Amino acid sequence: MRRESDAVSFIGLGYVGLCTATVIASKGIKTIGVDVDEKRIEQLRKGNPPFHEPQLQQMLKAVVRKNRMEFTTDASKIAEANTTFITVGTPSKDDGSIDLTYVKKATQDVGSAIAGSPVYHLVVIKSTVTPGTTTDVVRPVLEAATEKVCGPELGLSSNPEFLAEGSAIKGTLQPDKIVIGALDSKSGATLTKLYRRIYSKTKIPTVVTDPTTAETIKYASNAFLATRVSTINTIANICQRVPKADVETVAKAIGLDPRIGPLYLKAGPGYGGSCFHKDLQALISFSRSVNYDPILLSAVEEVNQRQASEIVNLSRKLLGSLDNRRIAVLGLAFKKDTDDMREAASLRVIDELLKNGASVSAYDPMALETARRVLPEKVELLPDAISCLRRADCCIVMTEWDEFRRLKPSDYKSTMKAPNIVDARRIIKRDDFEGFNYLAVGLGTSSS
Ligand code: NAD
Ligand code: UGA
Repeated sequence: MRRESDAVSFIGLGYVGLCTATVIASKGIKTIGVDVDEKRIEQLRKGNPPFHEPQLQQMLKAVVRKNRMEFTTDASKIAEANTTFITVGTPSKDDGSIDLTYVKKATQDVGSAIAGSPVYHLVVIKSTVTPGTTTDVVRPVLEAATEKVCGPELGLSSNPEFLAEGSAIKGTLQPDKIVIGALDSKSGATLTKLYRRIYSKTKIPTVVTDPTTAETIKYASNAFLATRVSTINTIANICQRVPKADVETVAKAIGLDPRIGPLYLKAGPGYGGSCFHKDLQALISFSRSVNYDPILLSAVEEVNQRQASEIVNLSRKLLGSLDNRRIAVLGLAFKKDTDDMREAASLRVIDELLKNGASVSAYDPMALETARRVLPEKVELLPDAISCLRRADCCIVMTEWDEFRRLKPSDYKSTMKAPNIVDARRIIKRDDFEGFNYLAVGLGTSSS
């Protein structure tokens, strides 16, 4: 009989799968990464990540060099591990509900790989899935593919992921919590033991519960965070209409209340990224399927969609009509330190600017290659901030990149047609910008 291995495998090597697998391999645990994307696998074998994430490249190169990580498109390799994390995407269908096609396919692939093996294997659902998916959707597919029943011979657990892009490695090295939604006690104990091995030196708060509650925790977390952003943006929009009111000071003060706390209170152009919109839509749709209309979550989404117009309106306030005006957009990524533009607020703002007859120049320190794929051709993409600002009637600071914090007033004045700035992230030190027409999210002006 084959001996139980210590290896862990991942099926789906996107942000979550690749970052988590790399961190686990860095702890000395043999890791097998499986993805259907051959190009991605080729790249990974050379130690090159397919997206930008701080610390990832260095860590990946090290584990590949030490032979701790293996990459393959061949899912049967999973049989060499004793735990498999399913980390494939869970996109939205047209109606907003969750599309479980990749999760089902990955489960089928894992099941086929371990069918016939006498060795205990734990399957872990790390992808974000709606409540009940692990027990009602994954379990039957897995049991049919393995011809085994979940229990002492075959483990199954939910284990949602809470990392954020731009700090994925840091967040995986030291997560604020681990949530284990075990189908049975052996699955729970096996996963707890694996995490103890990974975090041997640190005690990470761990919640062990049933799979459905674990899945719900993930949606609750994203719903709360998105609600916080839409709440502070709502306050910002009120401040903007009240002379002298400033959302920055409001946020600082309310953050001192321990019931509120200081984090995640930055007003801005609205949340973006691959998950908040998708997960809120999935939760809304799921909630309706169990006969509850979550009107709060619909409002959170609507506030977010409208936030782009708030930013465009600030530029309209400075310029009057936007027709034939040249707007420089600084920052395209949905937040700093990533090249990800999925659901980025820049997309909504640029779309509205173009619809209003403006011409748009744009620059991002990291997302230009992505931008070339997703933005309309008429958006002029420029290789640096200064070229982007040249001849602009107005500049909109869309992403809070450190590089933009370092721009001097003279960088704007010497290049732009007129010194008009809309600060959608509140990164500009206003006092240094005397003589500028400056409007910012959440900052009341006398003409508001
Ligand atoms: P992603 O789209 O970046 O990557 C998914 C990967 O899975 C792709 O490389 C794809 O080729 C691969 N894949 C699809 N089907 C496959 C199959 N059958 N076999 C092997 N590989 C397959 O996704 P992501 O951003 O890493 O998200 C994965 C899941 O984690 C989603 O459910 C998401 O909601 C959740 N999540 C994401 C984040 C984040 O910051 N991106 C954070 C927490 C949770
Ligand atoms: C978010 C969550 O933070 C993670 O915990 C979760 O795992 C992940 O979604 C997911 O499920 O995919 P992420 O989308 O990578 O992570 O990035 P965040 O840092 O949370 O930012 C999301 C958006 O909200 C960004 O556009 C950001 O600019 C915006 N935001 C965030 C604000 O406008 N204000 C804030 O105070 C915080």
